[in-house]
Amino acid sequence: MKLSLFGTGYVGLVTGACLADVGHEVVCLDIDAGKIERMQRGELPVYETGLDNIVERTVRMGSLSFTTDTAQAVRHGEVLFIAVGTPPDETGAADLRHVLAAAEEIGRLMEAPRLIVVKSTVPVGTAEKVRETIARVLSSRRSGLGFDVVSNPEFLKEGAAVSDFLKPDRIVVGASSSQACEVMKQLYEPFNRSQDRMLYMDPRSAELTKYAANAMLATKVSFINEMANLAERLGADIEQVRKGIGADSRIGHQFIYPGIGYGGSCFPKDVQALKHTAEDLGYEAPLIEAVHEVNERQKQRLFTQIASHFGGAENLRGRTFALWGLAFKPGTNDMREAPSRVLIEALWAVGARIRTFDPVAMSEARRIYGEREDLVLCDSKYGALDGADALVLCTEWAQFRAPDFAEMGERLRFRLIFDGRNVFTPQRLVEDGWTYFSVGRRAVY
Ligand code: UGA
Repeated sequence: MKLSLFGTGYVGLVTGACLADVGHEVVCLDIDAGKIERMQRGELPVYETGLDNIVERTVRMGSLSFTTDTAQAVRHGEVLFIAVGTPPDETGAADLRHVLAAAEEIGRLMEAPRLIVVKSTVPVGTAEKVRETIARVLSSRRSGLGFDVVSNPEFLKEGAAVSDFLKPDRIVVGASSSQACEVMKQLYEPFNRSQDRMLYMDPRSAELTKYAANAMLATKVSFINEMANLAERLGADIEQVRKGIGADSRIGHQFIYPGIGYGGSCFPKDVQALKHTAEDLGYEAPLIEAVHEVNERQKQRLFTQIASHFGGAENLRGRTFALWGLAFKPGTNDMREAPSRVLIEALWAVGARIRTFDPVAMSEARRIYGEREDLVLCDSKYGALDGADALVLCTEWAQFRAPDFAEMGERLRFRLIFDGRNVFTPQRLVEDGWTYFSVGRRAVY
């Protein structure tokens, strides 16, 4: 099939590359000429396991190409995917400007019937708005061309996006015609062979499914974090509690790992957007609000813990903290809404300094914060420890799990660890003479 994608962010690029890899002829469109030029040279704007190989292969095979020419993209694709960003506006609602601009362009430029697929995460009712926009533009052109709009939300996880795309749990299609369902079925057929994973529903339900899935997952994280805070005060161990509740198959072991809060480009934005949708409807949604509030508090907890250990925030001035992990989770260089940033900025605000190491997010940190005298970007995890008062762990990268504690003890000023992801075993550290703070477990000395 001939496909075009509007937007080459991480969703658009992964979708385009994976669809090209199974033989569809894909054109990826972006208005940013510099970005398109870099992608043509094989420089990808996102770090995603396996993506560079697929892009390189499909560009070489000729099944994937990039353009800034909207008319060419609309002419090429029988199916047009809208995968542009929907950043939050100043009120937290999803900003549909880019989605509706793409719809306008499609209406203006289409010369033959088209199926439009909305992939971006968009509030309920957006597929209808896209439909109205295209219909309005077509009628102003006095064109009677046929088109249809489907909602096809994506459920990719950053860091595992390619494998999620190749082996989806489900493919949600919100459509109002059986013809559109049939096209979507054919398009996804290569990813749907072993078991039928297509779920057809109306567009509004498909749009809400996306928000409901992310809000449910975010709820699990905030719930376990709330329990962790209680466990700490009750002298219980959240890691035991986690196993105890996860064993109930109705609860499950996934997504109940306590930590310093969820981040990234999706959960915070989508929970806020859902809250906003509820407000617009005049419906109070206290659960959704609490999920967000618990998370905001959780992101502060490392700083609170550190300040309290040193006898107050005023005693942090002039101290240096070694920070392992900057990305919002392992497997990505993404620092959007990362809990590490809340800690870094809180420490700076009281006059402390940071030495840090992340396996892939160092240049992202440089891009965000620039050169600063109170931020030292180090070449190795051990280098970050030199002369620091304590180690603070923000992201549970595999390479942080079994470090050489003897070497760490020699490099740090104090044998002191604040672990925001519970990667170490408290007993082992105490025996080794460390002071260890973690999440939802009693501090050990
Ligand atoms: C999330 C969803 O998992 C995807 O299904 C969805 O498609 C995507 O958002 C999206 O809407 O595009 P992602 O943001 O890549 O994916 O990250 P997750 O792996 O879900 O992690 C989100 C955050 O929750 C991370 O900060 C992570 O550290 C935290 N988390 C996750 C926990 O603190 N505990 C857990 O048990 C699980």
